[in-house]
Amino acid sequence: MLHVVDAPLVARAPAKVNLHLAVGALRKDGYHELTTVYQALSLHDEITVRAADSIAISVRGEGADDVPLGSTNLVWQAAELMAEKAGHGKRGPRASIAITKGIPVAGGLAGGSADAAATLVALNELWQLELSRSELLELAARLGSDVPFSLSGGTSVGVGRGEQLLPVLSRNTYHWVLAFAKGGLSTPAVYRELDRLRAVGAPPRIGAADDLMHALAAGDARQLAPLLGNDLQAAAVTLMPALRRTLRAGTDAGALAAIVSGSGPTCAFLCADEDDAINVSVEVSSTGVCRTVRTATGPVPGARLVTAPHPR
Ligand code: C5P
Repeated sequence: MLHVVDAPLVARAPAKVNLHLAVGALRKDGYHELTTVYQALSLHDEITVRAADSIAISVRGEGADDVPLGSTNLVWQAAELMAEKAGHGKRGPRASIAITKGIPVAGGLAGGSADAAATLVALNELWQLELSRSELLELAARLGSDVPFSLSGGTSVGVGRGEQLLPVLSRNTYHWVLAFAKGGLSTPAVYRELDRLRAVGAPPRIGAADDLMHALAAGDARQLAPLLGNDLQAAAVTLMPALRRTLRAGTDAGALAAIVSGSGPTCAFLCADEDDAINVSVEVSSTGVCRTVRTATGPVPGARLVTAPHPR
């Protein structure tokens, strides 16, 4: 007999930035071989789950109108995977899932992956499934390349399609400014654009991540800044040329480095400290090159419950 928690439960999961995103060969399964270094940021989505007769998704907050409410939403797929784990066939448990978006949609910050990771954590508790962290990581990898990292948080290297994680020694907190674009970019379209650019020329490729790892271990933002790199940046900028101005606005305002986050179009500016981040955010905001500017710090923990677990 499945025991279901009566009260609603809230879980939260972070956005991510790729400090290093080296895109390798296109694989037969349509994914690219990656070596990436993820850092989780203090910009979150929150998920509230309640026992219900059917899966129902509602969304509010940043870009809510652009979030699908049906089975294409990773949250829905996460709920189905968890219901399968709970057993009981077609009479398996169901939940209503309310998403509060703080992370922009289609922004290159893994917002959808964060929602899926938070759903796994919340339903594990709501349905008292007691799945281990490694079982949740396995389900996360089935949902999407970035979902395991959204679950684990911190700073990690991702290999394979990004879903196989290895921890990275990272000291200190880093201060970021995030510039949200007017509009989003589709991740598959950005990868396709990179394949096209590589077919017709030789877009820049970032090197190995060894020096970046040393900078993270030293905890030195100034050492880290010139080592940030993203192979998808050229493709994102080709699809959205306005990003060039946004990146320049960040460095002109005094950021140590400016990169496109993941497949974009969010731009991430690494700053020397909190005061610099505030100054950069004010200045970038005043240039009008982007829709919204936010400050964030990293690394932060991965998906977790934010209400006290139910007493057993
Ligand atoms: O894994 P996820 O569903 O988030 O990936 C979205 C899309 O991004 C994939 O369908 C693929 O087009 C592209 N992708 C890729 N190589 C990766 C990760 C994602 O080509 N390693």
